[in-house]
Amino acid sequence: MAGRKKKNNFLLSFLTLIILAAGLLVQISTSFTVIMSDTGVPSPLIDVPQTGFSITKNGSRTHPDEQAAVYDIMRATGNDWATDIPDVCRGRWHGIECMPDKDNVFHVVSLSFGALSDDTAFPTCDPTRSFISSSVTKLPHLRTLFFYRCLGQNPQPVPAFLGLLGQTLQTLVLRDNGHVGPIPMQVANLTKLRVLDLHGNNLNGSVPAQLNRITGLRSLDLSGNRLTGSIPELSSPVLNVLDLNQNHLTGSIPDSIGSLSALKKLDLSRNRMSGSIPASMNGLTNLVLLDLSYNHLSGPMMLKGLVSLEALILKGNPMGSTLQGFKGMKDLMILVLSDMDLIGPIPGSLTKLANLRVVHLDGNQLNGSIPEKLKELNHLSELRLNDNCLTGMVPFGRDLVWRMRRKLKLHNNNGLCYDPDSGFQDNLGALLDSGIGYCSTGSSSSRTVQHASNFYGWFPSSSTGSSHKPTTSSLTLRRILAYACSTLLLLLTST
Ligand SMILES: *[C@@H]1O[C@H](CO)[C@@H](O)[C@H](O)[C@H]1NC(C)=O
Ligand SMILES: *[C@@H]1O[C@H](CO)[C@@H](O)[C@H](O)[C@H]1NC(C)=O
Ligand SMILES: *[C@@H]1O[C@H](CO)[C@@H](O)[C@H](O)[C@H]1NC(C)=O
Ligand SMILES: *[C@@H]1O[C@H](CO)[C@@H](O)[C@H](O)[C@H]1NC(C)=O
Repeated sequence: MAGRKKKNNFLLSFLTLIILAAGLLVQISTSFTVIMSDTGVPSPLIDVPQTGFSITKNGSRTHPDEQAAVYDIMRATGNDWATDIPDVCRGRWHGIECMPDKDNVFHVVSLSFGALSDDTAFPTCDPTRSFISSSVTKLPHLRTLFFYRCLGQNPQPVPAFLGLLGQTLQTLVLRDNGHVGPIPMQVANLTKLRVLDLHGNNLNGSVPAQLNRITGLRSLDLSGNRLTGSIPELSSPVLNVLDLNQNHLTGSIPDSIGSLSALKKLDLSRNRMSGSIPASMNGLTNLVLLDLSYNHLSGPMMLKGLVSLEALILKGNPMGSTLQGFKGMKDLMILVLSDMDLIGPIPGSLTKLANLRVVHLDGNQLNGSIPEKLKELNHLSELRLNDNCLTGMVPFGRDLVWRMRRKLKLHNNNGLCYDPDSGFQDNLGALLDSGIGYCSTGSSSSRTVQHASNFYGWFPSSSTGSSHKPTTSSLTLRRILAYACSTLLLLLTST
């Protein structure tokens, strides 16, 4: 039951993020956050009637040592009010969960802090003086420890003493919590962990290789820190989420990532990773989201076998390869391959991905014509093909252009033109603004030249021969190169 609930939560969050991704056009940092709360922990405060427990003579139900520890932890976060509560497990504040043992003594299993949302009002922390009290180690039944935005103005390392909770702790979330310094090795002592979330701190140093010891880890989120070094080998067979985005990680993607067969979300975006995408990744048949954008990865791009993939985001890696693959990616909805120095044609195989909603191929050197069958993608709501070397007639009709309107971007492809008889020019500012003119009637090889400006006329045409493998990823240079290859095309077709 708990397992199913968790899965549903995951899928729900995932749907939300897909919608988010589509909504935000995936152009800025896409931080696909999945918080997997440990809802599997039964809470007597919710699930069990509050009457019927035998009350001990002194009126206490919570184990006294744990009660004292909770007081310490609450005081350390500026929540002194809690020390007036005679029995913390019966205090009924959000953020504490307890379980009774067979003698009806309550044990604290979960503590949470921070205003996550309006309806989960965990105790907030005083950010100027909060710290994590070492009394958490006096809670021998603790499964979940959750701190959100607690220590912001009082930056501290992640306490090494957390490693002492290795017997029980399953969820450790220290999110946007103001931690600095390295991830302490002792965290790897938490071998029962399922969720480790240290997102949004200022952690530096490397990702501890010892995390590999946590074989039941389902979600590892170390995104939004300043971690350096390369990604260590991880081998948890149940890892669903690996999110290391927005760090300073270098080196190549380890082959061993292909052995994480349960992965659903892999986000390594906005790091400094190099090398090519390892072929082993094609074995990740459960992967739903793959985001490797804004690294220094090189080609070739040989993705296949990712049969569950719904979002593929590789933007901003200068791969310099042709567009290929996509075989079997029947669920793909979001494809973002902008600014990758891609060459050659848009493959017809792309038009077989019937669920595509968002396609960004802009800022490359793609040539040839736009595949006619693209218009048969009924869910397509956003298409960017601008800043390429595409030629020929835009094969879209009034319906599709009307549906996408400003989300159809075709500008800076000097070989594109549209059919004056298609009748869509009336409402099509999008196309008209893009500098695309009518196709000349008659010879299909003739191109429109009416909008060709000579702004870049100084660009030496001899360099177009080598323009397909630029060594820099500067957007401006790529635009110039794209312009140069369309200029070459104009020259060729007019002779
Ligand atoms: C309350 O009673 C329990 C069990 O009888 C005992 O273990 C605990 O020490 C008592 N607590 C206090 C504060 O006297
Ligand atoms: C690691 O966890 C064990 C219990 O699982 C504990 O006895 C030991 O002290 C912990 N070590 C560190 C360094 O936290
Ligand atoms: C981490 O940052 C601190 C300053 O916040 C610095 O003193 C320390 O050397 C850094 N460590 C590494 C491994 O970069
Ligand atoms: C596209 O560019 C490649 C070189 O990158 C060239 O070999 C090919 O002929 C071009 N195709 C078209 C249709 O212009």
